Amino acid sequence: MNDGNRVSGSADRDVDVLVLGEINPDVIVRAIDPRPQFGQVERLVDTIDLVVGSSSAIFACGAARLGLRVAFVGVVGDDPMGRFMLDTMRGHGIDVSACRVDDTLPTGASVILAGDGDRAILTAPGTVPLLRDEDVPAVLLDRARHLHVGSVFLLDALRPKLAERFAAARRAGITTSFDCNWDPSGAWDGGLRAILAHTTVFLPNAAEAVRITGRESTEEAALALAAMGPHVVAVKCGADGALAGEPDGTITRMPAIAVETVDTTGAGDSFDAGFLAAWLAGRPVRDCLAVGVSCGSLSTRRIGGTAAQPTLADAEAAARSSGLLG
Ligand SMILES: Nc1ncnc2c1ncn2[C@@H]1O[C@H](COP(=O)(O)OP(=O)(O)OP(=O)(O)O)[C@@H](O)[C@H]1O
Ligand SMILES: [Mg+2]
Repeated sequence: MNDGNRVSGSADRDVDVLVLGEINPDVIVRAIDPRPQFGQVERLVDTIDLVVGSSSAIFACGAARLGLRVAFVGVVGDDPMGRFMLDTMRGHGIDVSACRVDDTLPTGASVILAGDGDRAILTAPGTVPLLRDEDVPAVLLDRARHLHVGSVFLLDALRPKLAERFAAARRAGITTSFDCNWDPSGAWDGGLRAILAHTTVFLPNAAEAVRITGRESTEEAALALAAMGPHVVAVKCGADGALAGEPDGTITRMPAIAVETVDTTGAGDSFDAGFLAAWLAGRPVRDCLAVGVSCGSLSTRRIGGTAAQPTLADAEAAARSSGLLG
């Protein structure tokens, strides 16, 4: 099995993970009952926060927090939301110099109405679907050890070229991964099988894995997906943790870590960052799952996707004290 440059990486590859993806903030409205009342009624809520949103940006922040060198390619609008996102991502140590500002559309954004135990989300895609394959600079690819893409179903311009992009990356010794996230079209296809043929690590959640494959159980779905090309398929199962399927039929299960959960936004993206940080360090699948669930669970302790993302030392310590790591 060709693991590409999973462990060593050559010296001129100074970007551990190159992320192609969406960039949008979340505006989080919190109240016991955050439902708006029409008829021009003004209601007071507890808090309104502007935070880093979007699967890819939350993933990138998590990976940087774990000590990986991260570069990002995405599109924002020429507006305060776009500047907020690029400034904040830069503040996390992410190289955003290849991100493009498009002045034809506003930066995509979500408003999350977060109540007691449930939430509603309103999203304007804005610039998110504008990311194109041509936006990815060849010089950045030459420097990358690993290529990751988040929310593939939202990246309408990039998606048709992604199988080819991943194939070329693998030929150049770069490993590849993606998190599909939910398919708003409901079709659950979008050329995914062609992309999976050139994917090293696939990171769906259980509902997504089942919908893509049409299988009944999460385990069957993971193995069906692993047979399509990836070296490993890591399936996230919320409070039940995660499991991994491998092409030889191996299934590995990992429970979540018990924490005081405040907000699960972006838990899957923090899991992805943890799993890949361990994977890129050449660790066995079981350890990758343990670091992944630890990062996912710990990330739920604060509001928003990035505020409680752990360092590698903290993620490993939590996994060890829960008996998930030896
Ligand atoms: N309620 C919870 N309690 C403890 N850990 C959790 C909880 N929810 C999620 N996690 C942790 O985060 C990981 C990933 O979460 P989840 O399964 O929700 O991913 P996801 O569906 O891809 O999330 P999203 O796309 O919303 O970021 C889980 O494997 C688990 O370790
Ligand atoms: Mg997800």
